Amino acid sequence: MSVFQTHEGRVAVVTGAGRGIGQAIAVDLGARGATVVAVDLNSPGETVALLADKGHTALGLTADVSNPEQTAAVGEEIAHRFGRADILVNNAGIFPFLDIDELDYDTWRRVLAVNLDSQFLMVKAVLPTMKKGGWGRIVNLTSNSIVTNVAGISHYMASKMGNIGFSRGLANDLAPFGITVNAVGPTLTITPGSQQVHPQEALEAAAQAQAIKRNGLPEDLTGTIAFLTSDDAAFVTGQTVMADGGYAR
Ligand SMILES: NC(=O)c1ccc[n+]([C@@H]2O[C@H](COP(=O)([O-])OP(=O)(O)OC[C@H]3O[C@@H](n4cnc5c(N)ncnc54)[C@H](O)[C@@H]3O)[C@@H](O)[C@H]2O)c1
Repeated sequence: MSVFQTHEGRVAVVTGAGRGIGQAIAVDLGARGATVVAVDLNSPGETVALLADKGHTALGLTADVSNPEQTAAVGEEIAHRFGRADILVNNAGIFPFLDIDELDYDTWRRVLAVNLDSQFLMVKAVLPTMKKGGWGRIVNLTSNSIVTNVAGISHYMASKMGNIGFSRGLANDLAPFGITVNAVGPTLTITPGSQQVHPQEALEAAAQAQAIKRNGLPEDLTGTIAFLTSDDAAFVTGQTVMADGGYAR
C-alpha cells in the first residue's frame, strides 16, 4: 500500500471545510484516497473544486453544524450517497475575542453551540453508519490556547476544554465498535478566520513562544490528522495532540 493511498475506500466527513484548516484537511484526506464530504455553513464549493481538479471524489454540503435538524439531514445524505461515514473530523469553530464584560449570554451560547454542541451533533449524525462499518476515526479540533492561556477568550477556552472532555469520554463508548476518538489542538494558525481577529503582534508573539519559531499554517495539521484517521492509529484513542510547533510544551 502506497503511503499516498492510506485512506483509499474511506468516506471522510470534514466540518468547517470551506476554508482554513478544514479545507486543508479535506484536500489532504482526498489526496490520500478518501471520498470527502465537505460540510460548511457557507458553500464549500471552493474545496470541492480543489478536490475535483485533482481528480478526487467530493461532495459539498451546506449546513450549520450547531443545528440538530441540519446535522441529522447531513447524516441522512451521507448514508444515502455513500452508505456510511468512516472518518469524521469536527473542525468547524468560531473564536470572537471578548472579555467577560463584553461577553453576553447569546454569544456564550453561540460559541458553545458551534464549537462543542456541533461535535456531539455530528457524531450522532454519522454514528449509526460508522458503527455498522465496524471501523471509525473521529477527530475533534480543540486549541492549544487551553494550555497557553490567552486573554479575551474564556468562552472559547471553555468550549475547547469541552472538546477534549468529550473526546476522552466518547473514546470509552466507541472502542468496542472499532472507533477511535482523539482531539487535535492547533496553535495560532494563519487562516481567513484567525486573520480577522489576530493583529500582527499576536502572530509574532505566538511564533516566538513556540519551540518552532514560525506561525502555523493549515497544512501543519494535516499529517497529524491523517495519522489519527488511518489504520496505523488503531491503538490510539482518547488522546489530545497539540500540533502547535511546541508552544504547549
Ligand atoms: N486558526 C487558528 O489560529 C486556530 C487555533 C487553534 C484552534 N483553531 C481551531 O481550528 C478550527 C478551524 O479554524 P480556522 O482558523 O480554520 O477557522 P476559519 O474561520 O478560517 O474557518 C472556519 C470554517 O468553519 C465554518 N463554520 C463556522 N461556523 C460553522 C457552523 N455553524 N456550521 C458549519 N460550518 C461553520 C466557516 O464557515 C469556515 O469555513 C476551529 O475549530 C478553531 O477553533 C484554530
